[in-house]
Amino acid sequence: MHAPQEVTVIGAGVMGRGIAYVAAVSGARTRLADLDEAQLDAALHRIHADLEVGADRGKLDAELVERTHGLLETTTDLASACEGAELVVEAVVERMDVKHEVLRIAEAHADPTAVLATNTSAMSITEIIAALERPERGVGMHFFNPVPKMKLCELIRGLQTAPETLDRAESAARAMGKQTVRVEDLPGFATSRINALIGNEGMRMLEEGVASAEDIDTAVKLGLNHPMGPLEMGDLVGWDTRLDILEYLEGTLGERFRPTNLHRRLVAAGRLGRKTGHGVHRYDEPAG
Ligand SMILES: NC(=O)c1ccc[n+]([C@@H]2O[C@H](COP(=O)([O-])OP(=O)(O)OC[C@H]3O[C@@H](n4cnc5c(N)ncnc54)[C@H](O)[C@@H]3O)[C@@H](O)[C@H]2O)c1
Repeated sequence: MHAPQEVTVIGAGVMGRGIAYVAAVSGARTRLADLDEAQLDAALHRIHADLEVGADRGKLDAELVERTHGLLETTTDLASACEGAELVVEAVVERMDVKHEVLRIAEAHADPTAVLATNTSAMSITEIIAALERPERGVGMHFFNPVPKMKLCELIRGLQTAPETLDRAESAARAMGKQTVRVEDLPGFATSRINALIGNEGMRMLEEGVASAEDIDTAVKLGLNHPMGPLEMGDLVGWDTRLDILEYLEGTLGERFRPTNLHRRLVAAGRLGRKTGHGVHRYDEPAG
């Protein structure tokens, strides 16, 4: 099936910049939109740096890097960013009202047959795409962090999603180099549900004083063979985003997802993780 040549990504945070990277590397003209100019500048800077690293390591050839630079554009004008798009992926904050707002803009300005995808970590696809006039074009495309490295894109079918929309989302994900799984629309899908639970338990263990943050992460990596410890993983995801996810999962799946007080205090203190240079652990420079 045909891979999209015109892709718009809305939200230029940790995930949006990664999705824009893989879309542009796949050869699509890619527009990255965000209301915050500073986020766009930081995202573009990071994408260019990642491309250079790819070239230096011999993973991307010089011609591909050159072409990819030329395919990327950024803007604070969400409506114009969506003009003519065949695929729009929203990666804005994990809030239902904000997702509704940006998807309505996308629907009004994208190609009338465009696939309108949400990168939500956990929220109901059915409820998110209910904001669309033609919700059969809506679908969940859940990428993972860091997007250029992580192989999976989870595809989630909302109640209204047309089979053709799901097929087109799958083609797009594959063109971006991702392997796909198809998942039903239940809170947290097949991934975030487990990840949030493990991360929340790691935070609870830290709060209870079971061990230091370093030792909890080391124990889980070396004893359980996880590639990252639960606290390092929370730092990578962003504790603000993780808090939104846990609150949603607590409301839909129950008490076991209730966030800890320590978690809430980290967010209140602005210790959001890698993106602010300090979460549970400290980082030399803010990164995603
Ligand atoms: N961080 C992760 O590991 C991860 C993994 C998979 C999925 N997700 C999901 O991806 C989405 C984005 O997460 P993130 O970690 O990139 O968040 P982030 O906080 O890094 O970035 C969110 C971006 O959305 C922008 N934004 C907010 N309101 C907007 C609006 N109305 N219009 C345009 N832009 C707006 C913000 O300026 C910011 O740049 C969330 O739904 C999250 O649950 C996150």
